[in-house]
Amino acid sequence: MRAVVAYLPGDGVGPEVGAESVRALQAVARRFGHQFDVREALIGGIAIDTHGAPLPSATLAVVEQADAVLLGAVGGPKWSDPTSAQRPEQGLLALRRVLETYANVRPVRLHAAGRAISPLRPERLDGVDLVIVRELTGGLYYGDKHRQPDGKGGEIAWETCTYSTTEIERVVRIAAELARGRRRHLTSVDKANVLETSRLWREVTTRVMLAEFPDITLEHAYVDAFAMHLVREPARFDVVVTENLFGDILTDESAVLAGSIGLLPSASLGSVAPGGARRSGLYEPIHGSAPDIAGQGRANPVGMILSAAMMLRYSFGLEREAACVEDAVTGTLDAGWLTPDLLPKGATARSTSEVGAEVARRIME
Ligand code: NAD
Ligand code: IPM
Ligand code: MN
Repeated sequence: MRAVVAYLPGDGVGPEVGAESVRALQAVARRFGHQFDVREALIGGIAIDTHGAPLPSATLAVVEQADAVLLGAVGGPKWSDPTSAQRPEQGLLALRRVLETYANVRPVRLHAAGRAISPLRPERLDGVDLVIVRELTGGLYYGDKHRQPDGKGGEIAWETCTYSTTEIERVVRIAAELARGRRRHLTSVDKANVLETSRLWREVTTRVMLAEFPDITLEHAYVDAFAMHLVREPARFDVVVTENLFGDILTDESAVLAGSIGLLPSASLGSVAPGGARRSGLYEPIHGSAPDIAGQGRANPVGMILSAAMMLRYSFGLEREAACVEDAVTGTLDAGWLTPDLLPKGATARSTSEVGAEVARRIME
């Protein structure tokens, strides 16, 4: 097949891990006889510096021509001044909105190397295999926000959290479809004991599941208790669905199960556009630009490479190729090719590009 991939490396470790995901894609192309036309464009801080905007129109033009978007990470201390008008993260949020990628699928699968360094007891990790589906284009992230003097010498700031029936229904359907291909268990996480948006979330979720997915067991959990259960008995969960901000926080927590945030990929899936054409999916690791290790070849490229595998699966329907990338990653980690975040004491670390090259070699084997 031929496909156009918009490649937006971004800031910090984004270009470092991004290069390894492109290398993996090209290895898949060679091994399976596909053609991936990878078109690079700027997003985030580097786009502010170059074009004066975190999501320049030149980048949007590349994205609009693409069949899928592969993104590294955005942000960093250079652009973190809270008073600045332009922020790298705005570019990412705008992109998610433009593509209408309302369901962010973040799977948590364990590898032996991650288990070995996880702070959790090994017996708690037995059987862990879960997917968190995070609503990605609504909630507090996109509500009206404002800041003004409070009239008493200070200031007052607020943002609003809104969710509509439609927004909840569509993300719940994606989560339930995923559960159908797995262990048929869905946990919906909310704060319905306090928040009105959560009460609507719970009602809509219950209705959709009863009407359309009676074969799937539905359980509701409050976000505070769920945060605890996630590390106490993680193997109990199959598919989890939750709103934007809760999902952001809980997925970083779930990285502790895997052993490193550098291991976790994501796929942001969207709807069918009004004209009938499917909008492209957006694929990005769950981690950020990791300014503390950027430029040192220390970043783990696995989350980014596995995001490219999710792109092969969900945007291109290339299941065999996606599985080949996943197997190559497992083989690489099992053979002890580990970046410092996964390293047991005394062992020698491999660089980002050494790990990426080994994954690519195994893909072509
Ligand atoms: P972060 O995820 O960048 O880093 C948190 C910790 O995890 C750091 O110690 C970092 O070194 C480590 N880490 C992250 N990725 C790693 C990798 N691939 N391999 C090994 N270790 C890794 O989160 P942060 O420090 O809170 O945020 C830094 C910047 O990134 C901020 O500007 C934030 O807004 C941005 N950010 C962007 C995205 C994104 O683009 N999707 C996601 C999260 C944060
Ligand atoms: C993520 C990040 C982003 C988010 C930031 C950078 C806007 O933390 O993708 O998890 O909060 O969604
Ligand atoms: Mn996050």
